[in-house]
Amino acid sequence: MPRLKGQVAFVTGAGRGIGQAMALAFAAEGAIVGVADIDGVTAASTVREIGRNSGTARAFPIDVSRRDDVLRAVDQLVSEFGRLDIVANNAIVFRNEPVSEVREDTVEKMISVGLKSIFWTAQAALLHMDPERGGVIINNTSPVADLGVPRAAVYSAIKGGVSSLTRSLAIEFGPRRIRVNAVCPSTVPTPGARELNNNDEALYETRRQRTPLGRLGTPEDIASAAVFLASADASFITAAVLRVDGGATVYGGA
Ligand SMILES: NC(=O)c1ccc[n+]([C@@H]2O[C@H](COP(=O)([O-])OP(=O)(O)OC[C@H]3O[C@@H](n4cnc5c(N)ncnc54)[C@H](O)[C@@H]3O)[C@@H](O)[C@H]2O)c1
Repeated sequence: MPRLKGQVAFVTGAGRGIGQAMALAFAAEGAIVGVADIDGVTAASTVREIGRNSGTARAFPIDVSRRDDVLRAVDQLVSEFGRLDIVANNAIVFRNEPVSEVREDTVEKMISVGLKSIFWTAQAALLHMDPERGGVIINNTSPVADLGVPRAAVYSAIKGGVSSLTRSLAIEFGPRRIRVNAVCPSTVPTPGARELNNNDEALYETRRQRTPLGRLGTPEDIASAAVFLASADASFITAAVLRVDGGATVYGGA
């Protein structure tokens, strides 16, 4: 029995990488998926792939940092399919640089996409999630919320914000029966992460060796965790940050 049958999900940054895997996984479990991405071409290709697997999806080529874009897209999704059950906040703009070189427009862009957008999807969730059935919000955070990583100050600040916002939303939305959790992946060689790391295979090998389970994560690993958090199996789980990292984050070896 598909675990999300008849449900409607909205996933940000779902044109590629982890967001795409989440959209595909939600659809494989029976959900209808709104695929939001600033890149309309990749959003459409995720929708086509869901269609090829006999699922249903709609593309929303929007900038998720814009409140109007988000509210309009979710409105449209709900007008067509009648409900909203799952929101996955996944979109990101990756950029690493020393604090001394960080420009105002970089900070503005990264925070708007990676953190501010969560307020707009949360407002859409409040508007459209059924008061009786409730719903689920899943945020995508990172171990850098708690670890110090050189050149990643803006990204760390965003993810620290995402983790704490996950807890705040869980408390505020609990009485509305909306559960709010986060997945926390370690290194996943997605297109965005590969660009950020200049395809540095040596770096990926070092990280693999520091992962007790002996491999890096895949977008599908993270998507499986998101399906679990979205499903009734997680019905008493809220305010959780679920590490999906093969043990890498707590590894204390040399
Ligand atoms: N890849 C990793 O190693 C890793 C590790 C920990 C956490 N994460 C988190 O996972 C999430 C996805 O990362 P990824 O590696 O798949 O990234 P990615 O760069 O491959 O994909 C990000 C997607 O977000 C979209 N996007 C960017 N700006 C947007 C905007 N304004 N509006 C709508 N969409 C926009 C991009 O077009 C892209 O499709 C992020 O939240 C990231 O922080 C990734």
